[in-house]
Amino acid sequence: MGTGWRAATTTALYGPTGFFVAGTGPAAHFRTSVHASPVFGGALLRLVERVDAALGHPGRLDVVDVGAGRGELLTTLAQLAVRAADRGGPARRAVAPRNTATDDHSTGGGGRVPPLVDRLRLTAVEVAPRPVGLSPAVDWRDRVPDGITGLLLATEWLDNVPLDVAVATDDGWRTVLVDPAGVESVGGPVDPADADWLATWWPASPGGRAEIGRTRDVAWATAVRAVDRGLALAVDYGHLRSGRPFDGTLTGYRAGRQVPPVPDGSCDLTAHVAVDAVGVAGSAVAGTPYTLLRQREALRALGADGGRPPLALATTDPAGYVRALAAASAVTELTDPAGLGGHWWLLQPVGIPAPPLAPAVSAPSPAP
Ligand SMILES: C[S@@+](CC[C@H](N)C(=O)[O-])C[C@H]1O[C@@H](n2cnc3c(N)ncnc32)[C@H](O)[C@@H]1O
Repeated sequence: MGTGWRAATTTALYGPTGFFVAGTGPAAHFRTSVHASPVFGGALLRLVERVDAALGHPGRLDVVDVGAGRGELLTTLAQLAVRAADRGGPARRAVAPRNTATDDHSTGGGGRVPPLVDRLRLTAVEVAPRPVGLSPAVDWRDRVPDGITGLLLATEWLDNVPLDVAVATDDGWRTVLVDPAGVESVGGPVDPADADWLATWWPASPGGRAEIGRTRDVAWATAVRAVDRGLALAVDYGHLRSGRPFDGTLTGYRAGRQVPPVPDGSCDLTAHVAVDAVGVAGSAVAGTPYTLLRQREALRALGADGGRPPLALATTDPAGYVRALAAASAVTELTDPAGLGGHWWLLQPVGIPAPPLAPAVSAPSPAP
């Protein structure tokens, strides 16, 4: 027998001894954009600056990272914000320790706007406990806080939101069951809400599998609802209705290797995201269109172009040349169309215009 994949994954990843709760953390098992290089954080800091400007430089600017791993991205953002401040950029001085930034989301009226770094409020949302030694500048919570003004981020979160799997049979969609050893069997018909989702979002091919993304739609809509004004950004593996994978994408990762998906808590369990369905769900909450683009386009629009530094720099500033060379090779990894560069960026503005990542922005998919 067995249970549906959604229940099995929930226990395996998020139960008391679950892979993400009790384990060593995502970075020990697979490499995300966040781990690849601070270049990713640098591009996101530029996005934060754009959101800050679009919001009119509020007294407190939230950056909330949902599914924050061990807080790596927020740690990088805090460091880069301080470094930018030291160089005299929009972020100046130290990131405010939690609870010391003002709670005032209003703009500063006609007076001088305090620097970004003094207004940043960084919040990690994670099911795993707060890591020892994490910067006090980062607040740590197990739920998305309400009333966000700023940027809500979710990098490789949605692909870990548990979902059920179905197989298309002569009798219609049937639930795939799985036992703790990962052995699958075919169960009864999918429940009516899942059948509706499949009818809308996943064309049936005889014998094909579908990963029922309804739970991701709900998770994303709930996160977007927490944003009062600003931008919600999801970065993830994904696909569109026009190109759903015949066999699905559910897989496991352990210690840097792809492994069969076994829901016993020993490995990550992940499936690519139906990003258009998620986009429509968030858009319905925000009341504004979403935008989808590929990571390589987004990073280029945010100034991470991957160009090699001029050779002359090697003579005038050898250390700077080596740093620039390392950054260029990191950008190559982050923008590789067959790897991280193929990730989708789903941008959902709330109460502000879409951030200007044009001309790379692709037209939003219409709701079906
Ligand atoms: C693949 S990791 C990504 C970590 C990090 N964002 C990165 O890009 O490296 C997914 C993370 O999401 C967390 N997560 C999943 N569902 C969550 C939820 N509902 N609330 C908070 N954290 C969640 C997991 O614990 C895990 O640390």
